This record gives sequence, structure tokens and C-alpha cells, in this order.
Amino acid sequence: MTTVLILYATTYGHTAKVAQHLAQALAAHGHQVTVRDVMTIPSPAELAAADAMILGSPVYQNRHLRAIHVFARQHRKLLNRLPSAFFSVSGVAASSRPENHAVARKVVAHFCVATGWYPPQVAIIAGAIPYTRYPPFTRLLIRWFRARQGGDTDTRRDYAYTDWALVTAFADAVVRTLDAAPRLSSS
Ligand SMILES: Cc1cc2nc3c(=O)[nH]c(=O)nc-3n(C[C@H](O)[C@H](O)[C@H](O)COP(=O)(O)O)c2cc1C
Repeated sequence: MTTVLILYATTYGHTAKVAQHLAQALAAHGHQVTVRDVMTIPSPAELAAADAMILGSPVYQNRHLRAIHVFARQHRKLLNRLPSAFFSVSGVAASSRPENHAVARKVVAHFCVATGWYPPQVAIIAGAIPYTRYPPFTRLLIRWFRARQGGDTDTRRDYAYTDWALVTAFADAVVRTLDAAPRLSSS
């Protein structure tokens, strides 16, 4: 059994749902999983207890959220040493246009270079657009972006684009790595 720490950042809550889905999939394989919002800052003991770490963040203005960025940079040595993985949740990943997926990959590449953490496993996951929860200006702005990307523009409703089977497949890929990896001490 491996102890896995999943840390996520979120603004509107969708990345937390992805983190929970991942946790359930990993737990189903017998791993012990803790899921935490990175804003609550894990204790040194929690970090030391982790055999593996998975970080996740949504994309806002072409960047991952600052809290996850700061954590990844601060703990890059540990992250590069342990089995680790990263999931990026974005609107652009929901696009049907391949050129938009290239944008999503570029944002992840920037994150890796800027933090110095190079996760061996990365998932780019389509997020959600909860129009009804946005303040008016944000709603208009996001509608404009979505229209440019060929996406949904009905601001009277919310959209969720996540392919949950893909999230499960990502969890399965992580499990295969964990099962094959020698157990490393994080201290
Ligand atoms: C103000 C704002 C800016 C955003 N900027 C981007 C962006 O640059 N690229 C992108 O792919 N998605 C962008 N999105 C979409 C979010 O990545 C998407 O809604 C994601 O699911 C949010 O996750 P969360 O609910 O965990 O915060 C943006 C959304 C908002 C509201």
C-alpha cells in the first residue's frame, strides 16, 4: 500500500471534484489517499508520510494558480524524487480544436520550467464553465473567449466538460507507476 497525497488549488471548485475522483480511483486500488486544498498547507509530517504526490490546478489567464505554483517550486526537490504526477484543468482542454490543446500543453510546460518540477505523468483535463456563478464582467469575458474557441456561449447555464473516464485512466496509469516504483522515504 502506498500513501498518496493529492494537493489541489481551485477557485470555483471543479479541480477539487477532479481531485476527489482521482482519490476514489486510487483508493479502489488499495492505496491510502489524502486529498487537501493546497491553501491549507500540509504539515511537514504529512509531507514526510507521503510515498507519492499528485498536484492539480486549474488554468486562469494562461497560468496555473499561484498557490500550487508556490508549493511546487518550494518542494520541487521532494516532488522530483518521489513518484509524482500533475493534472491541469482548463477551459481550453475542452475545445474540439487541436491547436487549443497545444496551448494547454504549453501552459503545463511553462509551469514545469518555472517551478523546476518535472512530473513524469501529466493529465490535461477539460474543466467546467459555471457561467451562472461568475460576476457579470467575468461572464461576458469568458463568453467572448469561449466564442473564439468555438465553445458554448449560453451564459444562462453551467457547463462541465470533464471526461471522467479519462480521469480514471490517469489514476490507473499512476497506480501502475506506484505499483512498479521502489518505496522511497520522503525525509
Ligand atoms: C477569469 C477566468 C479566466 C480563465 N482563464 C483561462 C485560461 O487562460 N485558459 C483556460 O484554458 N481556461 C481558463 N479559464 C477556465 C478555467 O480553467 C476552468 O473554468 C476551470 O475548470 C476552473 O477550475 P476551478 O473550478 O477548479 O477553479 C478561466 C476561467 C475564468 C473564470
